[in-house]
This record gives sequence, structure tokens and C-alpha cells, in this order.
Amino acid sequence: MVANSAGDGAAPAAAGAAPAMTGSTTLADSPLLELRGVGKSFGPVQALTGVNLDVPVGQVTALAGDNGAGKSTLIKCIAGIYQPSNGELRWNGNPVHIHSPRDAANLGIATVYQDLALCDNLDIVQNMMLGHEQVRFGILDEVSMELTAKQTLHDLRVTTVRSIRQPVGSLSGGQRQAVAVAKAVMLEARLVIMDEPTAALGVTQTELVLNLIRRLADTGHAVIMVSHNLNDVLAVADRIAVLYLGRLVGVGPAAEFDRQSIVDLMTTGASSRLGNGNGSEAAVVPGPRAGSEG
Ligand SMILES: Nc1ncnc2c1ncn2[C@@H]1O[C@H](COP(=O)(O)OP(=O)(O)OP(=O)(O)O)[C@@H](O)[C@H]1O
Ligand SMILES: [Mg+2]
Repeated sequence: MVANSAGDGAAPAAAGAAPAMTGSTTLADSPLLELRGVGKSFGPVQALTGVNLDVPVGQVTALAGDNGAGKSTLIKCIAGIYQPSNGELRWNGNPVHIHSPRDAANLGIATVYQDLALCDNLDIVQNMMLGHEQVRFGILDEVSMELTAKQTLHDLRVTTVRSIRQPVGSLSGGQRQAVAVAKAVMLEARLVIMDEPTAALGVTQTELVLNLIRRLADTGHAVIMVSHNLNDVLAVADRIAVLYLGRLVGVGPAAEFDRQSIVDLMTTGASSRLGNGNGSEAAVVPGPRAGSEG
């Protein structure tokens, strides 16, 4: 069996904790997003080939891979920026075509890019409400917008910002990430994709953002975190997927990976430290329901 056969059954929300398998199918059993045979070429460059991946709710799926492995291309195919050249995306089990970021937003997919797209000169409330302003009697309803923003930050336990009327330009990197994530949550994202969320952050800020990512999953969101950083991946992921030269070479519950196996997969596309079904390109990381899907 190859790892990219999507035989990567959902892991429990808490990494390592065995789920009580009742045999009955619940909503949580079916992935929110499924990628089936997704490929993307740019002219002669084959950036992605045959990617099968399940993204369940309540879990952080870490997408790891070396430079040029195809991570950004993959999330752009999900976020509606690129159209896959092959394959299919399914949302709640139904095939979908995501032609634009607006299509993605309408489904409930929010992407937090590294450059964050926040306006430094606007305050936190204004940034969170930008494009979604609440109006009452023809004028901006500042009170209600402030309450909505405050509640969202409170729900995510973002407690380090001094004032939500503070310009975003005065926030730390971690706080900016938190505002961008809070905005995604406020817009009722079901799937939050984060591209290298901690790349520019210090130790304390990284912890803040990782806690937030954990909380997102624990509150029933599906989360995809793109990261080079193995510490972050091992700290927060429930599931790990590794891309190598555009192919998914390993996927499964985080508990089945260690640092070396991830490094092996990222740098060579295989790892002898993981169950290896056929000795071909793929390292196999069997999940609890391996082979039962797709
Ligand atoms: N718009 C494009 N046109 C042509 N080739 C592209 C384009 N975007 C990506 N590629 C190629 O596709 C491959 C995957 O790139 P991608 O940016 O997805 O990698 P990545 O895993 O995000 O890398 P990094 O860790 O450096 O961000 C690379 O070989 C890249 O050169
Ligand atoms: Mg990238």
C-alpha cells in the first residue's frame, strides 16, 4: 500500500489517544475536505502529482515538505487561487470546483497567508470587520462590531492585546497572526489554512499561535498548517502529511512519526523508520482505518 492511497483514517482529536471505535459512522468520521488524485502543472513543471489527502474536522493536519515540494501550490488549489490540472476536491463528501477565493470563502475555507493582508493603519476591530462591516440605520454600527470582534478574540482566548482599538501596525507578529485567525473564525470558516504561521515569530509568540491553532481544532474547525518547522509540527499536529517533489509520500496520525522519519520523508521521499508497504517511493503510515477509504 502506498501512503498517498488516502488510507489515512482519521486520528483522534488528541494525538495519540485511541478513539472509542463504535463501528457506527458519525459526522466526525467523514473528512470535511478530501483531495483525490490532485495534480497541478505549470507548463512543463509538474508541481503536484496524484495527491490524496483527507482533512477532518477537530484536527490539525500539518503539511510538511522541503522548499519547492508543492505545499503552497496545494493550499492554493484548495483556496481557489489555482485550479488543479487533475483530480477532484470533495467538500462534505460532495465534489466541488473552487474557482476563486470567493468560492472558497463561501464554502467556509479561510486562508491565513504569511503576509497576513492586514492593514497596519486600521485598528483590530476595523481589520476584522473589513469587507464585512455591520451597518445600522445607514451608519456603521461600531458598538456591535466591537462586541463581535471582542467576543471572537475572547472565545479564542486571545488575551494579550491591550486594546482592540489599537492599530494593527503596533501589534507583535504573534498578535497579528491571532487577529488574522480571529477574522477567519469570525467569518465562520470551517477549514482554516495557515501557511507557515510561526515563521517570523519569537518563542513566546510562537506559543501563542500554536495554542490558538490547537484551540481552533478543539472548537471543531479543520486546520491545515503548512510548516517547515518540525518543533511546531510535532507540538500541534494530530496528523502529518509530507510532500516530496509534488507527491504525498507519508501521511497519518502524528503519533506514528518522529523527527527523523519526517526529515527522511522531506529529504528523500521515504523513511525506513515507518511501516513501508512496498519499498517503492512511499512510506506507509497506516491509520486506524488504513485502506478503508477512497
Ligand atoms: N506559478 C508557478 N509557475 C511555475 N512554477 C511554479 C509556480 N508556482 C510553483 N511552481 C513550482 O512548483 C513547485 C512547487 O512550488 P511551491 O511554491 O508549491 O513549493 P513549496 O513547497 O511551497 O516551497 P517553499 O517551502 O519554498 O514555500 C516548485 O518547483 C515551483 O518552482
Ligand atoms: Mg511555499
